[in-house]
Amino acid sequence: MIVLDNVSKSFDGGQSYALCDVSLTIEEGETFVLLGSSGSGKTTILRLISRLIEPTAGQITLDGRDLNDCGVIELRRNMGYVFQGIGLFPHMTVGQNVAIGLRLIGWPLPKREARARELLDLVGLESDAYFAHFPNELSGGQQQRVAVARALATDPDYLLMDEPFGALDALTRETLQKEVLRLKASLGKTIVFVTHDILEAFILGDRIGVCNKGRLDQVGTRRELLKTPKTDFVRALLARPLEQLETFQDLK
Ligand SMILES: Nc1ncnc2c1ncn2[C@@H]1O[C@H](COP(=O)(O)OP(=O)(O)OP(=O)(O)O)[C@@H](O)[C@H]1O
Ligand SMILES: [Mg+2]
Repeated sequence: MIVLDNVSKSFDGGQSYALCDVSLTIEEGETFVLLGSSGSGKTTILRLISRLIEPTAGQITLDGRDLNDCGVIELRRNMGYVFQGIGLFPHMTVGQNVAIGLRLIGWPLPKREARARELLDLVGLESDAYFAHFPNELSGGQQQRVAVARALATDPDYLLMDEPFGALDALTRETLQKEVLRLKASLGKTIVFVTHDILEAFILGDRIGVCNKGRLDQVGTRRELLKTPKTDFVRALLARPLEQLETFQDLK
């Protein structure tokens, strides 16, 4: 469980705030989607959770412990991070990219390679075909699969995914969304997933947090958000043609 308690973040010594007074509980095993427009603070929340940056005010706890008391190595092992914009290392092969986290925690080469192969197969990339390729030899969708495999390498309890499918065509995106649902069901991870796409949020999120200019306007299930939007922003955001949403049985 991840708890943010009145967390604020300023990058300019308090003149402006990228995040303002955000309180949020992410339950074990859920897929929590952070939904919001560009610049609303979504990535900042993920970076705070993974301790890549420190809050200006407030407290973050992970499974009941203050994040500052969790060692950075332990955190890296326990939180897989799929970065916005993929972020594969271009000079490393697919196999090396997937195994990088295992190298950092000292796994020997044969064990790393075996695990990387297993993970590539898990995310639907045939390991024999792709293991020795370089990222630029793969399509965007394939590269995203590698990024997901890399985030899963250390078998983390938490998977943080920052707009992982933003740059993909609709069909590939749909396929990968299904993969996330499949992985979620089979691996039982707690997932924090960032998107600005409402349908993606509705497909993946057990609960959704709507970010608006550094504040969390509302947290709820898709049904709760649609039925009782708390702010004008949430109401406007969800004012979508109903036919796009009618596949969701619980919204009828
Ligand atoms: N390192 C930084 N230094 C200064 N300002 C920053 C830094 N990182 C983020 N910000 C600012 O904080 C605000 C929130 O940024 P953030 O990256 O969290 O937005 P986002 O919701 O992820 O947007 P996007 O959908 O475009 O990725 C923005 O105004 C951004 O300019
Ligand atoms: Mg972002």
